[in-house]
Amino acid sequence: MQEKIIILDFGSQTTQLIGRRVRELNTYCEIVPYNKFPYDDPSVIGVILSGSPFSVYDDKSFKIDVNTLRGKYPVLGICYGAQLMAWETGGNVEGAPSREYGRARLAKVDSSSPLLKGIEPGAQVWMSHGDTITALPDLFHIVASTEDVPIAAYQANDGEKTWGVQFHPEVYHSECGMQLLRNFVVDICGSHCDWSAASFIESTVKELREQLGDDRVILGLSGGVDSSVAAVLLNKAIGKNLTCIFVDHGMLRKDEFKNVMRDYECLGLNVIGVDASAEFFAQLAGVTDPEKKRKIIGKGFIDVFDREASKITDAKWLAQGTIYPDCIESLSITGTTIKSHHNVGGLPEKMNLKLCEPLRLLFKDEVRAVGRELGIPEHLIGRHPFPGPGLAVRILGDITPEKVAVLQEADHIFIQGLRDWGLYDKVWQAGAILLPVQSVGVMGDERTYERAVALRAVTSTDAMTADWAHLPYDFMASVSNEIINKVRGVNRVCYDISSKPPATIEWE
Ligand code: XMP
Repeated sequence: MQEKIIILDFGSQTTQLIGRRVRELNTYCEIVPYNKFPYDDPSVIGVILSGSPFSVYDDKSFKIDVNTLRGKYPVLGICYGAQLMAWETGGNVEGAPSREYGRARLAKVDSSSPLLKGIEPGAQVWMSHGDTITALPDLFHIVASTEDVPIAAYQANDGEKTWGVQFHPEVYHSECGMQLLRNFVVDICGSHCDWSAASFIESTVKELREQLGDDRVILGLSGGVDSSVAAVLLNKAIGKNLTCIFVDHGMLRKDEFKNVMRDYECLGLNVIGVDASAEFFAQLAGVTDPEKKRKIIGKGFIDVFDREASKITDAKWLAQGTIYPDCIESLSITGTTIKSHHNVGGLPEKMNLKLCEPLRLLFKDEVRAVGRELGIPEHLIGRHPFPGPGLAVRILGDITPEKVAVLQEADHIFIQGLRDWGLYDKVWQAGAILLPVQSVGVMGDERTYERAVALRAVTSTDAMTADWAHLPYDFMASVSNEIINKVRGVNRVCYDISSKPPATIEWE
């Protein structure tokens, strides 16, 4: 049985980060909505209560009876989680005149507390709270303070394994945060730290065999890392009963369909490659509105996939490379608990298929680690993200096969250049954009009036925010020269220096 830490999500923006940190300790954890604690799961070794955007006094705040957990499991409350436990057990929580946000230093530390082992006064912690705990119930006592926050951490009396911290140990700026989480997860909860890519593969393959039996499964491949890893994992579990479908909508990168098909075949996958580019180009002809383009491609993709998949008449499952961040939605935003994003939306219902998502509990870097462990080549694992509608959202205005061909060439020079200069892995994603403008140039003795291409390269950790990549001028000069000299129809290259927000990564 895989031991696990349960993280109860009270809606904080950093809940996922708590999950990441616990996984970094080679310990399996699951983030579940605050009111969905799995009381009947014997593999739970500890509980973390997350922060929340609410105050305990808020009508909308999420509440649980902490007495159902205290004393039964080791419990660590973080920020709101700590306030809730103190408040429910007779302590006092008060609104501070202004929200305390930012770095603070621990002034006093009770070094006998197992939670604070190895943490010294002076350690930096990250605060982000409106309310603060002003009095503890008799059950608890203070184990750390900062200059401004007397109750920065508390612990239960009499050996009960309950702790609360007002600061956020999961945030990088909390220098002692990882030590504190290690103390909790490993020393206090007793994790064996046996969660690894290899252990994940072993247990998932076993579970997939039990779940799927002899059923036939279909999976849509995109060329991206998530669907590729899902496919190789399923292939390991059920072999010939997995059929993959890779649709070429005509707006992939230069030679991508051919290259990726070859990679998939080398990985031993049973892949049906479908060249549907003519269909997509016909449907997109004359369409300039970005949202319309997306909708046409989305629907076209479902139609082609559906047509191909329905040839596999005995398929019972649709597998997808959905990953953890796709599944978790902050409670604070919508009030809904968990939302599942279906990459091929609507398909399972339409085709009467059950959904199989073997990566749904993994973070992106864990997906990559699993992929490496499965022997997937590095150039597939380390690929930049690429949007589902492909170059269609990088051609402003209407789309024609000729424009796609021009953009593919420019994009190829840029991406290959990044690889040659050792810059590819330093940026989150990069690509070229074909602009709907022409400008005057001179080539030889001729006046030209041709297209402009914008280059976009960004650094990011999650695509939610991004900064333009500060690429070396010499590199940009070389790429610009090569594009203008080699790509017919382009006489000008610009570099996009917008960050997200307010811009987005893609232009459409
Ligand atoms: P934006 O442009 O919103 O992009 O900053 C954020 C990330 O999402 C990718 N992206 C998409 N991926 N289908 C996808 O599968 C789409 O329609 C789509 N639009 C944007 C984008 O490439 C970036 O990584």
